[in-house]
Amino acid sequence: MPSVYIKTYGCQMNERDSEAVAAQLVAKGYTLATGEGSADVVLINTCSVRDTAEQKALGKMETLAGTLRDRRPAVVLGFMGCMAQSRGRELMDRVPDVDLVLGTQKFHRAGELLEELLSGRRSKVVETAAEPRSEASIREHLMPESGGARSVSAFVSIMQGCNQHCTFCIVPHTRGAERSRTIEEVVDECRELAARGVKEVTLLGQIVTSYGRREIPARDGRSGFVQLLDAVHAVEGIERIRFTSPHPKGYGPDLVEAFARLPKLMESAHVPVQSGSDRVLRLMHRGYTRSRFVELATQLRAAQPGMGLTTDIIVGFPGESEEDFAETLSLYREVEFDNAFIFKYSPRRDTPAATMPCPVPAEVIDERHARLLSLCDEVRKRKLGAMVGRRVEILVEGASRRNHSRMQGRTRCNNIVVFEGSPRHKGQVMDVRVTAATLTTLYADPAIHNPD
Ligand code: SAH
Ligand code: F3S
Repeated sequence: MPSVYIKTYGCQMNERDSEAVAAQLVAKGYTLATGEGSADVVLINTCSVRDTAEQKALGKMETLAGTLRDRRPAVVLGFMGCMAQSRGRELMDRVPDVDLVLGTQKFHRAGELLEELLSGRRSKVVETAAEPRSEASIREHLMPESGGARSVSAFVSIMQGCNQHCTFCIVPHTRGAERSRTIEEVVDECRELAARGVKEVTLLGQIVTSYGRREIPARDGRSGFVQLLDAVHAVEGIERIRFTSPHPKGYGPDLVEAFARLPKLMESAHVPVQSGSDRVLRLMHRGYTRSRFVELATQLRAAQPGMGLTTDIIVGFPGESEEDFAETLSLYREVEFDNAFIFKYSPRRDTPAATMPCPVPAEVIDERHARLLSLCDEVRKRKLGAMVGRRVEILVEGASRRNHSRMQGRTRCNNIVVFEGSPRHKGQVMDVRVTAATLTTLYADPAIHNPD
């Protein structure tokens, strides 16, 4: 049987999609190649959110085509995911060696289409049409149990698409309209994961707070999303629940209250603010104001005092003035986020922002990006430094990535903790005492003998 290698760019959703495609192919008898050099099929799962992500994937495919096609003429090369969806056939004009372009609603057809390509029945395939119920169409959602290293933490896709149409964002175009899986489907998957030893699930979607908005009526003031959280919370064996990516306007009173009510829901919330200026927020079509956002951050911290708040910010949105940017800096100081992803605005085709007046010059964007990044580091350093000496609960994920003789876990607020432990700690929820902090990592000692 053929072997496949999947290279993934972009968000956790893409990682999850790559896993699902890999599981589908393994179920058909494929083996997973350890590198692109030896694979019969190489797929690149792509991201379109910013131009740099597209350029990286294109560059990678050009290199692959240049090196692999000569050596192994029968190799099948494919693009899948967001850039495949938004650019379609154009990708084959750009890189003629590409055999397959598979859009975001066609992942479930990967196996069948690859078979046609590998057998020579077809030579070029572009599949990007919309597909009803595609969010539920991959049957082999999970890898067969390999008996190898078990994961402690897993991603679970709960919905696809986004209807918000922020003016800068290409996602509604690449991922389509919102579609949710049913609560039963999600719970079944969580049960199966728990049976395999998974302790933590991260519920995934482009705008998870809109989960089930049309399909699931509110009950006792609880939205479909909060009903889903309740249902996943009841799954035995799942000890921690996270979700991403939400929209600030989706944090209604029921969701804020869920953080106080559900012990398995980690006190860590990603709240993408994008800008601190009301004028820019309006131009972005975000649907909230700065003051509403600050109120939400306050409510979340009131529900859970240890709440970790992280955010996404775009600098250099068209027309962003120095005053607008100063509002973003002051909001950052006011909310004191625990961490942030800071992006330089990148014009995307067919989005309203791409043709808005007064684009910000690249050097101004670079300079604002650097200023915000240094503020972000300053706040993060102070906050992580304040953790030293504290006792924190972690879920141990496995060996530390940097130093294999140490173990790594995550706090409830999603900070990485490295400590001297042994492989038997993997999968355990345990208390450790923080001894040191860098900008990205906490170091700790097991705190078993140090009750507070
Ligand atoms: N809800 C989605 C958001 C996808 S985009 C999710 O699944 O995570 C992730 C982040 O990229 C956004 O929050 C925004 O800060 C940033 N982003 C989106 N479009 C962008 C653009 N055109 N230029 C720069 N950053 C962008
Ligand atoms: Fe994009 Fe806004 Fe949806 S950032 S994914 S359009 S909430």
